[in-house]
Amino acid sequence: MTNSAPLSSGERAQLKDDARRVLDTNRQRGVSRWENRAYDFVCPSNVTYPFQWLWDSGFHAIALTHFDVARAQQELRCLLQAQQPDGFIPHMILWEREKYRAQIATYNIALLNDYLTAITQPPFLAQAVERVYRASDDAAFLAAVLPQTQAYYRWLARNRDPDDDGLIAIIQPDESGLDALPAYDALLKMPTLDPRGLRAAMENIFAAYAPLRASPAQIFAADVFVVEDLLMNCAYAQGSRALARLCRIARDAAGAAEFDRLAARVEFALVEKCYDESRGIFFDLLGAAEQKSGVITVTSLLPLMLENLDAAICHRLVHDHLLNPQEFWLAYPLPSVAANEPSFDPDARTQLLWRGPTWVNMNWLIAGGLRAHGFAEIADELAARTAQMILRGGYREYFNPRTGVGGGAPGFGWTTLVVDMLADS
Ligand code: GLC
Repeated sequence: MTNSAPLSSGERAQLKDDARRVLDTNRQRGVSRWENRAYDFVCPSNVTYPFQWLWDSGFHAIALTHFDVARAQQELRCLLQAQQPDGFIPHMILWEREKYRAQIATYNIALLNDYLTAITQPPFLAQAVERVYRASDDAAFLAAVLPQTQAYYRWLARNRDPDDDGLIAIIQPDESGLDALPAYDALLKMPTLDPRGLRAAMENIFAAYAPLRASPAQIFAADVFVVEDLLMNCAYAQGSRALARLCRIARDAAGAAEFDRLAARVEFALVEKCYDESRGIFFDLLGAAEQKSGVITVTSLLPLMLENLDAAICHRLVHDHLLNPQEFWLAYPLPSVAANEPSFDPDARTQLLWRGPTWVNMNWLIAGGLRAHGFAEIADELAARTAQMILRGGYREYFNPRTGVGGGAPGFGWTTLVVDMLADS
């Protein structure tokens, strides 16, 4: 590993100022026609994503802790307004659906009602609650949001693990937030590798699910698109550990034991079922038959996020894969797909998401894992290269991992996580 030149204090200050500007510019405030509810949150991008997304909001709240803790709390409170009585939280809240009808027409989404979608997204809620609580030390905030956060993880446990192996499953590719990840190709069966092909494949899924939506069990029995996904499960395990810690702070001993047990089960199942000993890396499990996808993506490295992951497995993930220049260690790591996969598309020529470019939220997650497992120097280098990439390409949605050129939405919310990466290095 060659180390980059350290960032100057001017560069750090510029990154921070620009991040603050993104978080301010993307702030959406008003009163929705949805039951006249007030909203105040950060959208991913004013240009293409003017709504509230579940996992984006968790990242925005964490970035906001560096600027304005009250707004960080507000981001999560706003999100929690969408929680359903059974604990479910939708992946999108269409606060201003009337204003952005044209925008909505470009999305492939199934709705629960006029303002909420029918699927969820990676469970980073508890991690965000923990970070915001620690930044504010506000027991009233914790008391207000903890029951809802617990209810969400319990909803996942009850509804998304039909084979009761500890791992939760997604029922649509965008439920993991990784829309067109090549690991899903075998199930998604896009007729052409472009946005039209993705839309056609999504419409097939929606048509199959339309009569089944009310019954998760039937959706799983149909086995149209079921993936025990690495990102979802790493977020679920890490979130459950965060919840257990928060329960201890709130003196809920039973809750703490419940979520520690849940996390331990997920951590065990990830290694038992998703780890490929011969290749030293993790794979998503496809379908009820739980076929390993065999496609190496950035989420194949994500179990590094789990604080209890075995040291020998960590060592192989880092030295055989993360630092491997044929796979992930490119000029601007970490590409969303290993560079030696046939599907690797660093320029997003297919115009599909998550098929090669680098995304800052993945770098942030993996940098945290590297630090937890004693690879601080590599985490520092990843943070430095992420910062250089943003100084070069701007606060874009994603970046070419070879050139650092930015792509997708400008002024993208979770790219501001770089501020948190730099605070640790
Ligand atoms: C894209 C991403 C998804 C994200 C959304 C809003 O669809 O793939 O993960 O939540 O944009 O930023």
